[in-house]
Amino acid sequence: MQETIAPAFDAKAFRAALGTFATGVTVITAVGRNGEPIGLTANSFNSVSLEPPLVLWSLAKKAFSLQDFVAAKHWAVHVLSAEQEGISNQFARGGQDKFAGVASVPSEHGVPLLQRCAARFECKTTFQYEGGDHIIFVGEVQQFEKNALAPLVFHAGKYALAACKDAALQLSQPADTEPPSFRADMLGYMFGRARRNFLDSMRGHLEKYGLNDYEWRLLTIMLTKKNLTSAMFGQFNQDAALDTILQTLTALQHKGWVTTVARSAGEEPVYCLTDKGVFDSVSLLAIAKSHEEQLLGKMDDMDGVLLKHLLHKFIQKTEGGSPNLWSDEFILKEGIDS
Ligand SMILES: Cc1cc2nc3c(=O)[nH]c(=O)nc-3n(C[C@H](O)[C@H](O)[C@H](O)COP(=O)(O)O)c2cc1C
Repeated sequence: MQETIAPAFDAKAFRAALGTFATGVTVITAVGRNGEPIGLTANSFNSVSLEPPLVLWSLAKKAFSLQDFVAAKHWAVHVLSAEQEGISNQFARGGQDKFAGVASVPSEHGVPLLQRCAARFECKTTFQYEGGDHIIFVGEVQQFEKNALAPLVFHAGKYALAACKDAALQLSQPADTEPPSFRADMLGYMFGRARRNFLDSMRGHLEKYGLNDYEWRLLTIMLTKKNLTSAMFGQFNQDAALDTILQTLTALQHKGWVTTVARSAGEEPVYCLTDKGVFDSVSLLAIAKSHEEQLLGKMDDMDGVLLKHLLHKFIQKTEGGSPNLWSDEFILKEGIDS
């Protein structure tokens, strides 16, 4: 028997170094010795050969399902999609029914086949090798399918999303960059340009409805928040003077989109959408949504998802102690209920 030599390096550091290798995430399923479905999450999956079509993965010897996989003649590898993080977690937990709530159909060999994965490979076991504290399984692919879904990624011990890198764009600016390109890399500047590009191409639609950018901005607030005073609008639009807000609200009133509701004497009225205002704003919102899809279509498939994910994350991390104006809770406290 071969003697295992204890590595001279720290196991935690070794794991961390291995974790820099970004992988996809798979769930591997089979039928256990008692005929029950078995499965686990694995990122050790890899391709081996095209001719014949071979793939491999490795299973920890301490895994509960080891003897079942060693005995299994067939197994299926499911490459998970970006939306299947929950399934990955479920199949990585031992001691419970991993298939609970997960849709599957049996293959001709009875192997549970999960649905809506980025890809699936149905395999026949061809080799099993000892590999330290793991067993390496090599299988011949007998059938496969691929769906146009973004894959789930695993990197440095965390789930990640894959974005296509644009070869023309550098990730970081060289240290000796001159001021003009330094500015081009500033987040505030990029937000401004991105917003302008977005609105530039939306403006044609707004004009058809006789609206300008700023009127549209106030209407989108009114679609989610009822009964705001002009001062409350000011909280959403701190870059605009109260006069501008009042003028815009008056213009919207003249156009028949907005009406005021009087409150007690001496109190400023609150602003609401008219029926026309609601109808046309909702129509414009639908146009804005399809317009958004058109713009995101100019980038790669996964980029839109990633852009929104990072923006959500940025908003969440930077909001700090200030109240979330857009939450329902805020309007109950600060607004006036209808
Ligand atoms: C992203 C991810 C990748 C994993 N990759 C593997 C792997 O390649 N091999 C392995 O044996 N365990 C891997 N695991 C751990 C197993 O999924 C987990 O230990 C599982 O509960 C084992 O199932 P069992 O003990 O019920 O057989 C991974 C876990 C996660 C979250």
